[in-house]
Amino acid sequence: MTILLLGSGGREHALAWKMLQSDKCSKLFVAPGNAGTEAIAKNINISPTDFEAIKNFVLQEKVEMVVVGPEDPLVAGIYDFFKNDEALQNIPVIGPSKKGAQLEGSKEFAKEFLVKHNIPTAAYGSFTKETLEKGQKFLETLSPPYVLKADGLAAGKGVLIIQDLEEAKAELKNMLVDEKFGQASSKVVIEEFLDGIELSCFVLTDGKSYKILPTAKDYKRIGEGDTGLNTGGMGAVSPVPFADAVLLEKIENRIVKPTIDGLQKDGIEYKGFVFIGLINVKNEPMVIEYNVRMGDPETEVVIPRLTSDLVELFLAVADEKLDQVSLEVDPRSATTIMVVSGGYPEEYEKGKAISGIENVTDSIVFHAGTKTVDGQVVTNGGRVLAVTSYGDNFKEAIQKSYQNIDKLKFEKMYFRKDIGFDL
Ligand code: AMP
Ligand code: GLY
Repeated sequence: MTILLLGSGGREHALAWKMLQSDKCSKLFVAPGNAGTEAIAKNINISPTDFEAIKNFVLQEKVEMVVVGPEDPLVAGIYDFFKNDEALQNIPVIGPSKKGAQLEGSKEFAKEFLVKHNIPTAAYGSFTKETLEKGQKFLETLSPPYVLKADGLAAGKGVLIIQDLEEAKAELKNMLVDEKFGQASSKVVIEEFLDGIELSCFVLTDGKSYKILPTAKDYKRIGEGDTGLNTGGMGAVSPVPFADAVLLEKIENRIVKPTIDGLQKDGIEYKGFVFIGLINVKNEPMVIEYNVRMGDPETEVVIPRLTSDLVELFLAVADEKLDQVSLEVDPRSATTIMVVSGGYPEEYEKGKAISGIENVTDSIVFHAGTKTVDGQVVTNGGRVLAVTSYGDNFKEAIQKSYQNIDKLKFEKMYFRKDIGFDL
């Protein structure tokens, strides 16, 4: 079948790589893609949120399935756009409906959903410009640090964790009144701070049944020892060594099952990935966020560990027959290290020639911010390459990734040398 994948990051390169291993995928387009997807599929220059252009392309090329990588098109309602269009309604979209995508698109919606379905999460309050004073009073009832979250999508930057009460009050005003994160912070969720280690759980669902994918942990800070600014993610490890059978059972029974049941009870159509961000507080898993897509760079370790046919799984999702297929996982560990442009996540330069990819052995190089100019692969974003390796344990896998990163070169290249340090 002909498949269209939307997105352009390392996540999409990993999804494309895996889908192309299926006999069921005869042709794969990626919009807009990167140099990595260009080498294995066909890139097309369409924005993932330009639904009219996507429609024209899908009809013209007889695309038979659309797989959505990033959250923006999902929150903007691509699932409903297809469903409500006579010419498109029989073409499955792998992703939630617009309502389902609100689990990521609105922190308040997600919190209401969690509370309604009795899923463990931090206590919270939700405030607007009109209730600023109430919000500041609410902060006084909490102990530091204070967690402030812009309600809407803010490209991963909308969460502030602040030690000082007065500063937290000032930031709350900044967000609500001065629109620090634009429209996204016209509402702010204030949460109780949860102290523990983070991990992520990934679920594929057809809206009724579900499959739990391997666990993963990412490293969000730019600096070694988890210091400095937040990034999209600087590396990831799967499985998470501390996620033992007891913890996984709690995650499934208290979080995954009630989430999928909750979607069904609330009549929310959902045929795609759910990425559940968790904090393990004294061995009690609690939800800190939902995302309605796979994580990046977590995909670059989770997807390589699936031995099942991903396209078959997607077809089962589309047909609501996920309970009839099995999901097989490679027992080895997988790790990925992100190689980024110097300066990221702040200002950085693009267009730097990348060399050495062809010398990598025993690791997989997934491209993120890259493009090809006159046959030369150059940098085209902050996060540039994700170097994934397998190993009998995560240490062995990490070592392979670092050995191969030594062969890569571009001007001002940076990567964290301590991925997995805390495990
Ligand atoms: P989010 O965008 O909701 O994932 O938040 C970004 C990051 O903020 C998370 O990965 C956590 O590290 C942190 N965080 C969010 N909510 C809380 C919380 N209630 N307690 C402690 N840390 C949090
Ligand atoms: N790595 C975190 C995310 O994809 O949101």
